[in-house]
Amino acid sequence: MSKLITLEEFIIERQHDFPFATGELSRLLSAIALASKVVNREVNKAGLVDITGAAGEENVQGEEQQKLDVYADDVFRIALEAQGEVCGIASEEQEDYVQFNSDLNSDSKYVVMIDPLDGSSNIDVNVSIGTIFSIYRRVSDANGPVQLEDFLQKGDQQVAAGYVLYGSSAMLVYTTGNGVNGFTLDPSIGSFYLSHPNTQIPKSGKIYSVNQGNFHTFPQGVKDYISWCQESDKESNRPYSARYIGSLVADFHRNMLKGGIYMYPSTAKAPNGKLRLLYECNPLAFLAEQAGGTATNGKQRIMELQPTELHQRVPLFIGSSEMVAKAESFGVVNN
Ligand code: AHG
Ligand code: MN
Ligand code: MN
Repeated sequence: MSKLITLEEFIIERQHDFPFATGELSRLLSAIALASKVVNREVNKAGLVDITGAAGEENVQGEEQQKLDVYADDVFRIALEAQGEVCGIASEEQEDYVQFNSDLNSDSKYVVMIDPLDGSSNIDVNVSIGTIFSIYRRVSDANGPVQLEDFLQKGDQQVAAGYVLYGSSAMLVYTTGNGVNGFTLDPSIGSFYLSHPNTQIPKSGKIYSVNQGNFHTFPQGVKDYISWCQESDKESNRPYSARYIGSLVADFHRNMLKGGIYMYPSTAKAPNGKLRLLYECNPLAFLAEQAGGTATNGKQRIMELQPTELHQRVPLFIGSSEMVAKAESFGVVNN
């Protein structure tokens, strides 16, 4: 049997990869891993909600049930604050960023951005959901409180990013800028084990993922690209297969392993697309590029976009590099 490597062992082993190797980032990643196990436990119990009480109701123990996305938000925030390496976080679930004030956090160097539960429409129907996180070094004066500018950094300033997928197995996948590594949780022991070392996205694939219900309000170039994906051509493996879970983490993960393109273009209802630059697009863009793939808004690298507000949305085209380039060649952005 080959030696199993746990996430904790791997993080320590790779500490030297990180330009500011002081152990802080390692502790931060460990806090995220711990919180994700707590969330995974609750996700696994979500199907029992109907018999133990729905969100907002009291359960049999007389405790108020929380919605899972609010619960996950609390778990990650509390874990990150308690751990002490973070001076503030911004969460998709919170209107404003949260500043950590305790002595432990006051001179911490990092900020975290998080989508605590991604795929909310799938929570109640037993379909894979996830958590997405993104870590930056603060840029404001370390002696004062964390500032908005610490969160509005371009994606190419990320020092680490990753996601947790609560699927048939729970997985944690992350990068610190030296490739992408994936870990699978052994639930009986509670340890993440290295299962997907140095993951690479195939240059091309045969899956396209998009909410085609919005087809009629997509930019013309997106419609044309989708029609091209559906044409028959043996040489380029077309027609492609359409696969869309509706949980970005799960759709991205599948496409990363198999090769494919995920698109959330602008629509009539969501002129800038639906996905959030800071909590969803930047972290997945960092992972995609580290795995040899591409992430753009249709004409520009996601990680080069200057954020102007916390909850900013951008169109997203992400996945296998040849597929994203092909999509872009159709002019997938509204004029
Ligand atoms: P969240 O649950 O964090 O709000 O994100 C949902 C996102 C993403 O996970 C998914 O890809 C997308 O919304 C699906 O949107 P549509 O239902 O519009 O396709
Ligand atoms: Mn999301
Ligand atoms: Mn969410």
